[in-house]
Amino acid sequence: MNSEEMIDLCKRHTMYTWSKGEAVNPLPVERAEGVYFYTPDGKQFLDFNSQLMCVNIGHGHPKVIKAIQDQVAQLAYVFPASATAVRARMGQLLAKITPPEMNRFFFTLGGAEANENAIKIVRQYTGRQKILSRYRSYHGATNACMQLTGDPRRIPNEPGTPGFVKVMDPRPYHYSFGATEEEQTAENLKYLEEVIMYEGPDSIAAMFVETVIGTNGVLPPPKGYLKGLKALLEKYGILLVCDEVMAGFGRTGKMFAFEHFGIVPDIVTMAKGLTSAYAPLGAVAMRDEIAQHFDENVFWGGLTYNSHCVGLAAAEAAINVLIEEELVENAAKMQHVMREEMDRLQERHVSVKEGRALGLFGMMDIQKNADGEPMAPYNGSHPAMTKLGKFFRDNGLFTFVRWGSFMCNPPLCITEEQLREGFAIIDRGLEITDAAFE
Ligand SMILES: Cc1ncc(COP(=O)(O)O)c(C=O)c1O
Repeated sequence: MNSEEMIDLCKRHTMYTWSKGEAVNPLPVERAEGVYFYTPDGKQFLDFNSQLMCVNIGHGHPKVIKAIQDQVAQLAYVFPASATAVRARMGQLLAKITPPEMNRFFFTLGGAEANENAIKIVRQYTGRQKILSRYRSYHGATNACMQLTGDPRRIPNEPGTPGFVKVMDPRPYHYSFGATEEEQTAENLKYLEEVIMYEGPDSIAAMFVETVIGTNGVLPPPKGYLKGLKALLEKYGILLVCDEVMAGFGRTGKMFAFEHFGIVPDIVTMAKGLTSAYAPLGAVAMRDEIAQHFDENVFWGGLTYNSHCVGLAAAEAAINVLIEEELVENAAKMQHVMREEMDRLQERHVSVKEGRALGLFGMMDIQKNADGEPMAPYNGSHPAMTKLGKFFRDNGLFTFVRWGSFMCNPPLCITEEQLREGFAIIDRGLEITDAAFE
């Protein structure tokens, strides 16, 4: 099928996410390998976003392909109450790479389902109903996850199910809680404690946070925030759920992002990098005391495709590739190259406000004036950002341009040379936003 036929039929018969059908402009993709993918016409793209921040090990890895093929040939599916070798091995493997306090996992099909089931788990475990989360967050597109989500995709889906309370992030957008990171953290936690008091601590089951905020800014928590947050929540018997759907599996230069911040959450939700997107799978990891509760009490939740053999085989192989090929270590190493390139671009381009990188989790913010005002407002657009996105696409760089920022999240197997190749394209593209700087 050529590119035109592919686009025409896809648009005619299939519905695209988060968009008006007539406005979508899908990129035709035929094959992919390593950090590159190709259109049917043979045009090469450098994947600077690991597709949807999920192809962590890179495209087309033969070991994962073989593991999936072998599993399908042997046993593609059995119902969730069965025991299988791949389920046994994957549970054991996750127990090895998560903290010693976590030894039980519930498998789902993706990130939203992981969060949905985490909501059920915290409610059934604590007997409390309310859930706290933050405005700058995305937790998935199912109904409850839309209410958990703070970003603007929530708004057309409201009103949703009750019981979700949103709070401000420790790094608010337009003003500061305090001058230093420590002051910001202290002020934010004081504010949060006041919210907990008003909402009634005994009614709050858990707080969900993206350990490092992903789509809404690639924002690592300020110093001391997660430790302070864990202690504050513990004081009121509220569980901490770290959503590591995007930040987990090496993206930040550690297997899980919370390892940077000296905490062990009560629950961790994961997906994306769990299989590096070779097959759909999500998981909820829980501390032993929560697991024990569900040894003695029914867990009121289920999925036809819970512990699906093919997803588990993909996950097992993809995690082994991450470990054997030292890709988590590579992400940590490449952070320095990304940092250097971002600093170089900030010096060269007046429109670059800031670049953030933790491992290979990166974002650059574009400003429209010396006051640092974003080139496009929150939930808004600007012609220069649209033009920048088109430039990237025309020049073979695949990434997400969103509002006044763009993403830098390549597969973790990227080399220094390939990373610099991506930033060389970005360097040329930034002349567009420089020209729009007022
Ligand atoms: C932090 C986070 N949580 C949850 C999700 C939802 O995952 P899924 O799209 O697999 O349902 C996403 C997806 O982007 C995410 O980034």
